[in-house]
Amino acid sequence: MKILLVGGGGREHAILKKLAASPERPEIFVLPGNGAMEDLATCVPIGAKDIDGIVNFAKENAIDFAVVAPDDPLVLGAVDALEEIGVRCFGPRANAAIIEGSKVFSKQLMQKYGIPTAQFAVFSDMDEALSYLDTANIPTVVKADGLALGKGVILAYTRDEAKAAVRSMMEDKVFGASGSRVVIEEFLEGPEVSVLSFTDGKTIVPMVSSMDHKRAKDGDEGLNTGGMGTVAPNPYYTPQVAERCMREIFLPTVEAMCREGRPFKGCLYFGLMITKDGPKVIEYNCRFGDPETQVVLPLLESDLLTIMQAVADERLGETEVRFSSGSACCVVLASDGYPQKYQTGFPITVDDGMDAELFVAGAKRVDGRLLTAGGRVLGVTATAPTLREAVDKAYENVQKVHFDNAFCRKDIGKRALNA
Ligand code: AMP
Ligand code: GLY
Repeated sequence: MKILLVGGGGREHAILKKLAASPERPEIFVLPGNGAMEDLATCVPIGAKDIDGIVNFAKENAIDFAVVAPDDPLVLGAVDALEEIGVRCFGPRANAAIIEGSKVFSKQLMQKYGIPTAQFAVFSDMDEALSYLDTANIPTVVKADGLALGKGVILAYTRDEAKAAVRSMMEDKVFGASGSRVVIEEFLEGPEVSVLSFTDGKTIVPMVSSMDHKRAKDGDEGLNTGGMGTVAPNPYYTPQVAERCMREIFLPTVEAMCREGRPFKGCLYFGLMITKDGPKVIEYNCRFGDPETQVVLPLLESDLLTIMQAVADERLGETEVRFSSGSACCVVLASDGYPQKYQTGFPITVDDGMDAELFVAGAKRVDGRLLTAGGRVLGVTATAPTLREAVDKAYENVQKVHFDNAFCRKDIGKRALNA
């Protein structure tokens, strides 16, 4: 079987490793991939947003199955375009990817179907948004409607900050068209849980829960990043919370999307906050999380390719999805200065005796050597029977990976261990 995987980061490296280990022994092409993936797949320099390029490649190479991992191509309709030429796909069509592509859509969906989420108001007129903020509860949260590279959410602790956020999105258009509508919502409090799930539009199977660490510095200080590390499972996601999420959030969301004529097939990601009033949805993503995938998939014992095909063929209900009962910890090594200015081009070396997996995000291969090529360079994932052991093992193995200007958070898993 010939598989095409769209994307090129650490998440895609984790997906690739699982697909390559399938008993079906697929031949895999990654578009565009990165230098660390070349021993498992053919990397083809076609960008993840180049839908025509992706479709032409699939046609010319008689691709049987495609996995579209990042949000942009999903929202742009990569799955629709591939299905049109007869390629089976794992991933939602554009009309379902909108659950991440438009915050206004997802908030209105939750409101219509009674799915618990923060109270909110939507504005397409800046002056109305500003006068609403004169009396709104503070702190509040201002969100750009569309995709904004993960930066379109501003937690405002004063009225002025909230107004400045609205102005930057609606007047200065810092997120382009994504900010032409904004959502202003209630500030929720509580521990956050990420739950990725497989769904074929009818059946939903949650994966093991996880916890992201989004800030750049220890103690959740510093700027927001794409994610500096993850652990799984998330101790705040107790069996009672899980049961409630299934009943109040997961099943109602899948059903709501069907009723709207937008069946969601692929990985549906629930960003949840466990508030004192119960679990609430902070955000939906239409894809695997990064770096959540780097702790979730290493705990998956069933064959990923079998599951992904069952999702595409709407046979998930009859397919086994089994996770190990162990724990995983992923520590991200980044280039010093990330998420702002940083230098790249440094050789990456790995000592013998690594007892952890490497998922490479920002690297390129030059004359056989792997060089850093991004802010987040790679993640080191360890698995172990307990979270304590997984965290310790991840940090032991981080010591064995070297490149100039590397930095990582020293407290990944600390909050989970103290829970
Ligand atoms: P995002 O950029 O969508 O991943 O959101 C960034 C972060 O903003 C989330 O992980 C939450 O920590 C926080 N956040 C989003 N919405 C709310 C809210 N309504 N109340 C409190 N925090 C929020
Ligand atoms: N780790 C958060 C995300 O993938 O959106």
